[in-house]
Amino acid sequence: MTPARFVTFEGIDGAGKSTHIDAVAQRLRQGGATVLCTREPGGTPLAETLRELVLHSTMDALTEALLVFAARRDHLQQVIVPALARGETVLCDRFTDATFAYQGGGRGFDAAVLAQLESWVHGDLQPDLTIWFDLPAVTAAERRAAARAPDRFEQQGVAFFDRVRGGYEARMKAAPQRIVRIDAALDREAVWQQIVSALESRQW
Ligand SMILES: Nc1ncnc2c1ncn2[C@@H]1O[C@H](COP(=O)(O)OP(=O)(O)OP(=O)(O)O)[C@@H](O)[C@H]1O
Ligand SMILES: [Mg+2]
Repeated sequence: MTPARFVTFEGIDGAGKSTHIDAVAQRLRQGGATVLCTREPGGTPLAETLRELVLHSTMDALTEALLVFAARRDHLQQVIVPALARGETVLCDRFTDATFAYQGGGRGFDAAVLAQLESWVHGDLQPDLTIWFDLPAVTAAERRAAARAPDRFEQQGVAFFDRVRGGYEARMKAAPQRIVRIDAALDREAVWQQIVSALESRQW
């Protein structure tokens, strides 16, 4: 049996997370893992309701951070922690690094307060691996424009997403063993090969 693993997918809107998550699940299943795919904010009925509020209602940065962490608390309790306890692999499209990047980097909210919330909500639990899809804000905007109508975050300009990207970079520098940076500006196949290398280097 493969050990429990918690893998998160991070990056600005349009970076390519959703494009690759199913292929990662398939590859890990071929290796014998039982894989659960989920997302944040969301992953439970309550957390999906909070997601809708966060994506579509106007609010200040602290309210936004509290709602995101409330959703995370429910998601951890109902889904992530039980799955890991059963020895499963959990793939999560965004997690706490996104809160540091969006509410911290993007909105300029105090990272020390976010760190306190992080510690209350998930203590020592951190992902075993975080795949950070890094690409310039301009490229992400072009990809999104071709794909769909924007939500509250996606309506923000390139300067906002540059700050979000900076937030991710700061998180990576603080946890370089956990967070692997992928050059997401390359074509799909080249992005996939970088993901495979990250998994292979862990013998996954
Ligand atoms: N390497 C790539 N080259 C060009 N286009 C890509 C690449 N990867 C993904 N795309 C396209 O870019 C768009 C955004 O990709 P995707 O939805 O996977 O991003 P995301 O990171 O999940 O965004 P969000 O955070 O908003 O959910 C999609 O239309 C997708 O087909
Ligand atoms: Mg997505």
